[in-house]
Amino acid sequence: MTETIYVLNGPNLNLLGLREPEIYGSDTLDDIAGRLEDQVHGTGHSIDMRQTNHEGMLVDWLHEANAEGARAILLNAGAYTHTSIALLDAIRAITIPVIEVHLSDPKTREAFRHTSYVGMAAVKTVEGHGAKSYEIALTHVLDGDI
Ligand code: DQA
Repeated sequence: MTETIYVLNGPNLNLLGLREPEIYGSDTLDDIAGRLEDQVHGTGHSIDMRQTNHEGMLVDWLHEANAEGARAILLNAGAYTHTSIALLDAIRAITIPVIEVHLSDPKTREAFRHTSYVGMAAVKTVEGHGAKSYEIALTHVLDGDI
């Protein structure tokens, strides 16, 4: 049976590749999705990659991943990471392990990025490796670390 790994992306990540490339690099979300697809090839897992600019949509997708019995969720909630108690509650409300992902390392940036509500509930955080953060997080799932 194929196990699905949801990769959920929040606001402004649709602009990856164009958006502040000096911070986030030049890969687009499609480039990242392609590499994650390659990584799961032949492992019995599939990737369900999504992006939204809307907080409530992320909450709905977390619930959906739970209802569908996903293997794991990689979540880059963008700026909602630092503001969203709704996301914290949603991650706590579900039983699927969530890995927090960031391209940059928010802890080395502005003070308002130092709090992570997502990180308060996630099982692991991978940040600061650029687009590779996604691949590292996926490796943790495929290796059975979580
Ligand atoms: C980000 C870091 C957040 O602070 C920021 O708001 C983003 C991107 C990252 O991947 O580095 O939108 O989540």
